[in-house]
Amino acid sequence: MKISVIGCGYLGAVHAASMAELGHEVIGIDVDPARIESLQQGIAPFHEPGFDALLKKNASHLTFTTDMSAAADASVHFVAVGTPQAADGSADMTYVNSAIESLTPYLTKGDLVVGKSTVPVGTAERLAAHVTPTGAHLMWNPEFLREGFAVEDTLSPDRLVYGVPEGTDGDTATAVLDEVYAEILAKDTPRLVMNFATAELVKVAANSFLATKISFINAMAEIADVTGANVTQLADAIGYDTRIGRRFLNAGIGFGGGCLPKDIRGFVARAEELGVGQALSFLKDVDDINMRRRTRVVDVLTEELGSLDGKTIAVWGISFKPDSDDIRDSPALDIAESLARSGATVVSADPEGWKPAQARVERAGLSASLTTTSDHRAAVTGADAVVVATEWKVFQNEAPGAIGDLMTQRIVVDGRNCLNVTAWKEAGFRYRGMGRA
Ligand code: UGA
Repeated sequence: MKISVIGCGYLGAVHAASMAELGHEVIGIDVDPARIESLQQGIAPFHEPGFDALLKKNASHLTFTTDMSAAADASVHFVAVGTPQAADGSADMTYVNSAIESLTPYLTKGDLVVGKSTVPVGTAERLAAHVTPTGAHLMWNPEFLREGFAVEDTLSPDRLVYGVPEGTDGDTATAVLDEVYAEILAKDTPRLVMNFATAELVKVAANSFLATKISFINAMAEIADVTGANVTQLADAIGYDTRIGRRFLNAGIGFGGGCLPKDIRGFVARAEELGVGQALSFLKDVDDINMRRRTRVVDVLTEELGSLDGKTIAVWGISFKPDSDDIRDSPALDIAESLARSGATVVSADPEGWKPAQARVERAGLSASLTTTSDHRAAVTGADAVVVATEWKVFQNEAPGAIGDLMTQRIVVDGRNCLNVTAWKEAGFRYRGMGRA
């Protein structure tokens, strides 16, 4: 089938390459010429395991352009543009609206437009009014991919969610999308068909649940810190109950990235608009608990070092999670900036995130006190303390003794509770975890 994918960020670019992998002829469209140039050359504009290989393998039937008229050749159009957080916390719909507006003139009768962006409930119904007069159908098909596993999650998803309009239009649209995803459906992937509002809500509800799970365990970490309990053992013990489950119960410096933080805020803003804000008031606590994790690290370091003024601190990790170069709302970078603002000299190290972070540090006016590097050993050289803020394997596998030899003082703050506590203590480190001593 001929497919266009509008928006070539993490979601869209991976989706385009994955659709090509399924055998379709795909055109990726984006307004950013630099991004398109890079993708067209087969170079991934961001770090995502397996994505480069997919681009190269499918180059014969995968092209990229900034020209929306190229969508005219396709019969299925995925809309995968970003919905960033607006100043008031709501989702900024500028890109979705403009994508639909510029796509509409190229739609023909029988085409299928598939929304993938994370949107406030009610959006699909509103957009259908623009799309259906052209004779095209609209569906909402939220995406649940995790960065770092984007290719795997797109090609082997846990489930497919189809949001369809009521009536025969919905059946036609479903049949077309089934054809697009035939290979995925053949693997017995559950497919759930529902109305627009439910499909839109599934996405934000899933992310809100995950965020709540993380903040729940971080709230337990706060209690553990004052009682001498160990939050990792607590998570292990409650996680054996299959109704609870162990995944997403890792306490630490909390969640960041381009999705969970903005999605819970956008969901709260939408619920308030709909007059049911009270139903989601707990998500404000989820957000507050999460943001407190970042100040906790600064507090622990202050306890350990007295004042931060004039101290040198290494932060291991810049990206919001390992195997990603994404620094959007990254707790690791936020903490590094707070430490720099508190008078410390900070060296942040990350295998991938160090590059995009440089520009942000400059913009924040912090380049005199915060530098970034890919070399985590260089970062700890002469440091009074090291903070592990992103759990890259390369940090976890380090020999604590060798690291201690490079430092001025042996103090480690394990912001992700990912280190071998005994090994670091045996190497003479003062170890401070998040909800575990
Ligand atoms: C998240 C969801 O997991 C995906 O299902 C969803 O499709 C995606 O958002 C999206 O909306 O596009 P992602 O942002 O890639 O995916 O990252 P996660 O793996 O969910 O991690 C989010 C943050 O939570 C990270 O900062 C991570 O370090 C933190 N986290 C995760 C914890 O602090 N503790 C945990 O136990 C798990």
